[in-house]
This record gives sequence, structure tokens and C-alpha cells, in this order.
Amino acid sequence: MIDPRPLTAGVMGWPIKHSKSPRIFGHWFQESGIDGRYSHLAVEPSDFIDVLRALPKAGFRGINVTLPHKLSALEAADRCTPTAREIGAANTIIFRQDGEILADNTDGFGFIQNLRSAVTGWDASQGSSVVLGAGGAARAVLHALKEAGAPEIRVSNRSRDKADGLAAEFGPVVTVVEWSERSSALSGSATLVNTTSLGMTGQPELEIALDPLPRSALVTDIVYNPLVTPLLAAASSRGNTTVDGLGMLLHQARPGFEAWFGIDPIVDDALR
Ligand code: ATR
Repeated sequence: MIDPRPLTAGVMGWPIKHSKSPRIFGHWFQESGIDGRYSHLAVEPSDFIDVLRALPKAGFRGINVTLPHKLSALEAADRCTPTAREIGAANTIIFRQDGEILADNTDGFGFIQNLRSAVTGWDASQGSSVVLGAGGAARAVLHALKEAGAPEIRVSNRSRDKADGLAAEFGPVVTVVEWSERSSALSGSATLVNTTSLGMTGQPELEIALDPLPRSALVTDIVYNPLVTPLLAAASSRGNTTVDGLGMLLHQARPGFEAWFGIDPIVDDALR
């Protein structure tokens, strides 16, 4: 069935000015010849549900959702994907033509696709992973690593109770390591992921001795500002393969573009 609705989508958050999504979508519109619109929607938390329900009436095919609305988006949708339910948050909303509001979470997809496309042969099932942090981003990363067949995921977080909560939720594949022991957790691991905000511009550096980490391990950071975080620089200088966090942001946007506009867009150097 042909969809007569305008080619309109956007990103909702509070604040939202910093979002790079309109630039990502603008590039893809240009590349694919789609005459689409993708807007910043600055919406206060108390108005979220009203605005969400009104957008289909304004011709929107869907929206991305960012902080602080990711949990509300999951709760307000008529239906959600198993992935969104398991991660406990939504970042992509699809307004179906029949009126149903569907919530998905593509952050884990973005995480895995970024590693797969950056490193030929990388496979989560081939060794233990270490995940630093236990916030919202860690949930998406854990979900993705587990789905991809990771045999063991060691989670270390400053507040231990949050890591314990993730272990209880995600099951025996997750083991918890004290924050003070995060360095020794690297021993024998194949993948190291920083999901904390440490290393971001304006934040303290992530302090971790990389000595126990095998040189064959892949190191990635979800922080992409700066592109080369101190963690990635240190890992790279000792010979580890590193992948920056920008690719996760770019790949997580793909499923929304495809659901709304019918094309799986390409993440390449021009987009970066
Ligand atoms: P996000 O949704 O991006 O994951 P978040 O839920 O606020 O954001 O999580 C931020 C993560 O960075 C948490 O794991 C946090 O640790 P706590 O759970 O102990 O707060 C971690 N983090 C932030 N600042 C930190 C610091 N100075 N030292 C160690 N960990 C820090």
C-alpha cells in the first residue's frame, strides 16, 4: 500500500539543540534523493505524551526519542519490540498507517553494527567482554552483546548495586566486578567497552590500567566527543584495535530511516 503521508520525521528531547540526528538524516535525504523533513522537537517531559499522540496528526511517520523521554516513549507506545522491552527504553517510534504507535530501541543494533562494520571478523561470541558502566547505554550494549552470543560479560560500575541489578536482569552471562578491580577484569577478555561518561569533553578521564588486556582485544567507547577518547588513545598506542563511538550513533539511526522512508541508508566516510 502506498503511504500518502508527508516524508516527515524528527527527534524529540529536552534539551534537543545538541542533537546531530538532523544532520545525519539530512545527509541521507540528499544521498537517496528523498525530499524529506527531519526536525528538532524540543518538548518538556510533562508534554511528552500529548505531543507524541499529536504528531501522527501532523503527518509524522515517526520520531527518534532521546533524553529524558526514552522510558516514557516505551510506556506511552501501543506496542513495543522485545528489544525495547528488554533494554527498558525506546529511541525509535514508528507511527503506523493504521494509527498504532510502535516503540523500538536501536541503540544495541547501532553498537553491534558499528563494531561489525569497523572490524572485519569481530564476533562477540569469540571471547569475554568487559563493559564499564551500568546506565542506560550499558543496558543497550549488554542486550546487544548477549543477543550476539557473548559467552561472558563482566560489568564494572562505580555504584555496584546498579551492576548487580543488571546481572539479576540479564542472567548468568553477566558477572559483576568491583569498580576498584576493573583493571584486573580485563585479563583474557576480547572486547572492552566504555559506556560511562568518563572521557567525554568536560568530564574526568576514565582511569584504568590496560596492562592485563590482551593486545588482540578490541576497545570501543560510546563517547564520541572527542572522537579519540583518552581510553582509545591509550589502547591504540599499545597495539589494540579501537573503534570510536560515532559509528554507534550513525548506525542506530538506520532502522528509523528504513521504517519511515523505505530505504536502509548507508553509513560511510561521507556521513562521518
Ligand atoms: P547513560 O544513559 O549514558 O548510560 P547514565 O545512566 O547517567 O547515562 O550512566 C552514566 C554511567 O557513567 C554510569 O555507569 C555512571 O556510574 P554510576 O552508576 O556509579 O553513577 C558512570 N559514571 C559517571 N560519572 C562517573 C565517575 N566520575 N566515575 C565513575 N563512573 C561514572
